[in-house]
Amino acid sequence: MDTVRDAERTRVAIVGGGPAGLLLSLLLARDGIDHVVLESRSREEIENTHRAGILEAGSVSTLVDAGLDRVVREGDRHDGIDLRFDGEMHRIDLAGLTGSAVWLYPQTAVFKDLADRRAADGGDVRYSATVTEVLDLDTDTPAVRYELDGVVRELRADLVVGADGSRSVCRHVLPEAVRRSYSYEYPYAWFGVIVEAPRSAEELVYTASEHGFALVSQRTPTHQRLYFQCDPDEDPAGWDDERIWAELQRRVAGADGFTLKEGHVEEKTVLRFRSSVVEPVRHGRMVLVGDAAHTVPPTGAKGLNLALADVVLLHDVLGTWLRTHDDATLDEYGLRAGRRVWRAQNFSAWMSRMLHSHPGESGFEARRRVAELRTVVESEAGRRFLAEGYTGWGPIVQEGTM
Ligand code: PHB
Repeated sequence: MDTVRDAERTRVAIVGGGPAGLLLSLLLARDGIDHVVLESRSREEIENTHRAGILEAGSVSTLVDAGLDRVVREGDRHDGIDLRFDGEMHRIDLAGLTGSAVWLYPQTAVFKDLADRRAADGGDVRYSATVTEVLDLDTDTPAVRYELDGVVRELRADLVVGADGSRSVCRHVLPEAVRRSYSYEYPYAWFGVIVEAPRSAEELVYTASEHGFALVSQRTPTHQRLYFQCDPDEDPAGWDDERIWAELQRRVAGADGFTLKEGHVEEKTVLRFRSSVVEPVRHGRMVLVGDAAHTVPPTGAKGLNLALADVVLLHDVLGTWLRTHDDATLDEYGLRAGRRVWRAQNFSAWMSRMLHSHPGESGFEARRRVAELRTVVESEAGRRFLAEGYTGWGPIVQEGTM
C-alpha cells in the first residue's frame, strides 16, 4: 500500500471538494489555471449531508456569475424574515431595508450544481482521496500526500489551498508557534428535523420563547426544515414524532394562534454550536478557506456564505500571486477575508445570544433578551442593522477596495 508514486505537478492543489473547494476549482478552470481537487469523502456522502439553506445575495451573484443559475430558477427568494417573541410575529423587511434579499437554497444543492459542472467540464476532482500530509510549505513547491485506491501518491504545486472543512488536515499543519486559535463553545445546540409537511409560514420564523429557541425553515413544498434549541448532549433516539411536535408547537405558540403543520419526521440530528477562528490563514505556500479557518453557529446561516466569500476574495488575488509569487498579495486575502469573518462571527454570536435561553439563565437575563429583541424590531435602525447582517453587508468585493 505505501508505494509513493512519482510526484505529479500542478499549480494549485485544492484540499477539499466541498462548495468552497469546487467553487475555487471552477474559477481557476475559467482562468485556465491548472489545478487538482482532492476530497476525502465520496460524492454521495457529501450530497447526503444536510446543512444550512440560506444564501446571501452576494453568494447568489457569485454562483450566477460562475454560470450556475439554478439557484435563481429553483431557489426561493426571501425578502424578509420573522422574529417571533412574546408569541407575536415581527417582520424584518430585508428587501425594503437593504434593497437586497436572501435565497432559500440548500447547501447540498449548491454542492450538486458545482460538482455536476466540474464533472461536465472534465475537471480533475478526485473523490475518496484522503490527504495524510502537507509538506514543504516553506519551499517553492509545497506538496500533499494522499491515499487513493490503496496507493499513496504525491502532488506538488505552487500553492496548497486548505478547503477541507472543520476537521481540516491543513489547519493542523500550521505550527503551534504561529497558530492563534479563538473559539467559543455554546451551552446549547439545535435539534434539527426534516419533516414531510406543507409550509407553516411564507418566510423563516426565528422564535424566542420561555421554552427556548425554535426556527421554522423550509425545503420544498412537501418537506420542511425545523430546529429547536436543545442540550448539546441530547440523544435524538429519545425523541419520537409526537414528542418533537409537542416541543416545537409549545415554542411557537402565542395569542395569534400560530401553529405548525405537522407530518412525519424523516430525519433528526443534533447540531452543536461553536464559534472559532484560526489565524493566520496563510502559512508559507498554503492558505486556508472556509470552515478549515473558521466556524460559526448556524443562527443566521453564515457558514457557507463565508466559505464562498473567502474563495471570491482569494480568487481576486490569486492571478497576481501566480504571476509574481509575492506573498503580500496572499496576506491581502487574509486581511480582507478576516474582516468579513469577524463581522460574521459577531453577527452569528449576537443572533444566537439574543434568541436562545442560556441554561440556568436568570429571570433578569430572560427579560433583558426580550427587551433587546423589542429594541431591535421597534427601531428602524435596529431592523436595518439586523437586515444588513442577514443579507451579508452588500457585495463581497466592495467597490474601491480592489
Ligand atoms: C436552514 O434552513 O437549514 C437554516 C436556515 C436559517 C438558519 C439556519 C439554518 O439560520
